Amino acid sequence: MMQSVVLARRPTGNPVENDFAVVETAIPDIPEGSFLTRNDFISLDAGFRNWMNEDSGDEILPAMALNAPVMGLVLAEVIESKHVDYVTGDKLMARFAWQTHSLSDGTDFIARLPAELEFNPSAYMGVLGDTGMSAYFGMTDIAQPTADDCVLISGAGGAVGTIAGQIAKFSGARVVGIVGSQAKADWLCGALGYDAAVVRSGDTPLTDAIGEACPDGVDVFFDNVGGQTLEAVISSMNHRGRLVLCGAISGYGVTPHGPNNLFEIITKELVVEGFMTHFRHERYDEARQQLSQWLRNGVIQSPEHRLEGIENVGKAFADLFAGENFGKTIVAL
Ligand SMILES: NC(=O)c1ccc[n+]([C@@H]2O[C@H](COP(=O)([O-])OP(=O)(O)OC[C@H]3O[C@@H](n4cnc5c(N)ncnc54)[C@H](OP(=O)(O)O)[C@@H]3O)[C@@H](O)[C@H]2O)c1
Repeated sequence: MMQSVVLARRPTGNPVENDFAVVETAIPDIPEGSFLTRNDFISLDAGFRNWMNEDSGDEILPAMALNAPVMGLVLAEVIESKHVDYVTGDKLMARFAWQTHSLSDGTDFIARLPAELEFNPSAYMGVLGDTGMSAYFGMTDIAQPTADDCVLISGAGGAVGTIAGQIAKFSGARVVGIVGSQAKADWLCGALGYDAAVVRSGDTPLTDAIGEACPDGVDVFFDNVGGQTLEAVISSMNHRGRLVLCGAISGYGVTPHGPNNLFEIITKELVVEGFMTHFRHERYDEARQQLSQWLRNGVIQSPEHRLEGIENVGKAFADLFAGENFGKTIVAL
């Protein structure tokens, strides 16, 4: 038998644990041209909230159906194959549903992993997976910070933010994070080398708090949050600053707020670039090699918010939106 996490009801605003349910079904037969995987880890990625609303389908994914398995990213191993390109034992990072097993004809979004994994397998979902590579591409390709820069990162204690901040530190830049709690702010500065952190839900208005933490203004903003956070930071940017738009979690599945000060992009001559990591698929090996070297040398850490068991996948997903996670959220199956 296999287990699947299904969308039991459509979330209203931020998802909660009871929006999801676990169902058990027989493991399917494998048709010619397909293969079956055992999934060892599920990666929780906030962006998938975008396809949980009824009318949310787009060119990347169709809207998720009620009572159907929820789409996500998994670490999988091929256990039986009738597909010419996949053999038993192949390790994959794939866009498969939240299930203990997956049947694929190979047309899904799949990134192959090395036959021998050098690091803890869960690292291939985080620092060596989609989120670590997002930090890598966004920071090294687009932001390109220097020692003269103040780099501000929102969602700084999440999967992308923890890695992005550590990469930015290599440049000698001052690195500041925006987070949801004082405990997370203390952790960023104490354990991950951030120079300062701003608590977004504190008593001080966000622009004032950013001004205190970045007294010379912000040169680079790596944004995971969007909305009011982006609006506050635009007002704190220096002339010709760079906005690197990675995510917009504050607007996922809800009506996004602002920003309503886009005219400042013109007056400050800001450079704005968004990116999608999966469009850089052909460079995954390069990114993984560089991130692996940093891990091997001990110059970056890979913090995890780890839960166990498929029954905890819904809770783990809800944790992202409640800010419960310190680092990459994964569930070991
Ligand atoms: N462009 C790409 O290719 C790509 C790839 C992967 C991920 N992403 C995006 O990158 C972003 C970060 O992903 P991740 O996996 O690092 O996320 P994560 O680990 O889920 O962390 C997200 C953090 O965002 C904060 N947050 C949640 N709701 C918020 C809200 N309404 N307002 C402000 N902050 C909020 C929470 O921290 P606090 O409560 O501490 O603030 C939470 O821990 C997401 O937007 C994701 O969709 C983009």
